[in-house]
Amino acid sequence: MRRRHPGLVHLVISLLADRKLRAWLFILETLILCGNPNQSRAQDIDSTVHDLTGGGVSEICVFCHTPHTANAEVQAPLWNKLASGATYALYDSTTIDGTVLAVGSVSVACLSCHDGTQSTDVVINAPGSRGIDINGIALRGGNRFLDDPSKPDFLGTDLTDDHPIGIQYGGFIVNGNKIDPDFVGIGEGLNSSNINGKLRWWVDTGAPGNSPGVRDKTDLVLYSRDNGGAIEPFVECATCHDPHTDQSETFLRIDNTGSQVCITCHVK
Ligand code: HEC
Ligand code: HEC
Ligand code: HEC
Ligand code: HEC
Repeated sequence: MRRRHPGLVHLVISLLADRKLRAWLFILETLILCGNPNQSRAQDIDSTVHDLTGGGVSEICVFCHTPHTANAEVQAPLWNKLASGATYALYDSTTIDGTVLAVGSVSVACLSCHDGTQSTDVVINAPGSRGIDINGIALRGGNRFLDDPSKPDFLGTDLTDDHPIGIQYGGFIVNGNKIDPDFVGIGEGLNSSNINGKLRWWVDTGAPGNSPGVRDKTDLVLYSRDNGGAIEPFVECATCHDPHTDQSETFLRIDNTGSQVCITCHVK
């Protein structure tokens, strides 16, 4: 993400060591500074289709995040939406080597709009006070469903024709070997680090400004999931996409020219 014109509040927040706290404060900061044209993340979103403001609602983050009464079951920070509760059919094939788990929490976040089962403007905590309903409030009257199968934004609940998610990362070592040899492994781009007391993995991309061995915004992040007692790296929607970036129309973490996204993980 490009961080333009960082404000004073932002600088103070950047100095705080705790990453999770920093993420939460970052959201609060934006909610406080909402409308400030110099706010970098808001600037990133407001040129994209993820800017859902309009119809009397001007808070850009509120469609996804809230400072209070968030949905703690979804692992996207301070999530302001209900999980759609849908059951998903996931990609599977005889040639899959990794374990497929249920759709991960951060993917549930994306699918809470993109599966087309609920309006994009349904939130738990509406802007302003006293607008809380755990069953959801339609901010603009519930008129913006992503439910047209002819549109690219509609994924539906049948994900069997989509890239696997909730899938164990193939370059991870189990019993001394990669799960699948055709994946970038440790020492080749797969990295892990203890961030905030949690083991986190990512795949380095070599995008401009990207530092090897450091978890950057332009790396493909893997999500730590409990696989029968072991915490292991999994691919979810936000591995390839960052819902905030304005770098590409499809919110990819890096440019996909020459299938760069794909060959970050797949050795072909
Ligand atoms: C369309 C939905 C959506 C909107 C709008 C949105 N976010 Fe997010 N945000 C997400 C999702 C999903 C994640 C978790 C993805 C991840 O793991 O990076 C996230 C993660 C974050 C994080 C933590 C991870 C990171 O990238 O640092 C911060 C901080 C954040 N959002 C701030 C904001 C702020 C501030 C706004 C408003 C300017 C905003 N978001 C608007 C969906 C959204
Ligand atoms: C609050 C609802 C909401 C959430 C949550 C959300 N999106 Fe979106 N997304 C939208 C809307 C609305 C559009 C624009 C649809 C349009 O105008 O055709 C969109 C568009 C997109 C597009 C571009 C699609 C196209 O038509 O080219 C991508 C890619 C995308 N979203 C990915 C994601 C991912 C990945 C996540 C989770 C990390 C996510 N979105 C979370 C509402 C959401
Ligand atoms: C392994 C990487 C990867 C994962 C995981 C992934 N996507 Fe994508 N997604 C892409 C790429 C690459 C494109 C761009 C396709 C293109 O340009 O043709 C894309 C495109 C899209 C689009 C635009 C419509 C289209 O088909 O071009 C939407 C919407 C979208 N993704 C949402 C999601 C959601 C929601 C999830 C999780 C359920 C997800 N993606 C998981 C890589 C991924
Ligand atoms: C973050 C890492 C990552 C990225 C990026 C990625 N993939 Fe994958 N891909 C996986 C994993 C993990 C699997 C599951 C492999 C397994 O377990 O056998 C997979 C599976 C697949 C499969 C199914 C293979 C089978 O045996 O059925 C195809 C096809 C595929 N990916 C294509 C792509 C394409 C095309 C792109 C770029 C748009 C892409 N992948 C990007 C990690 C990734």
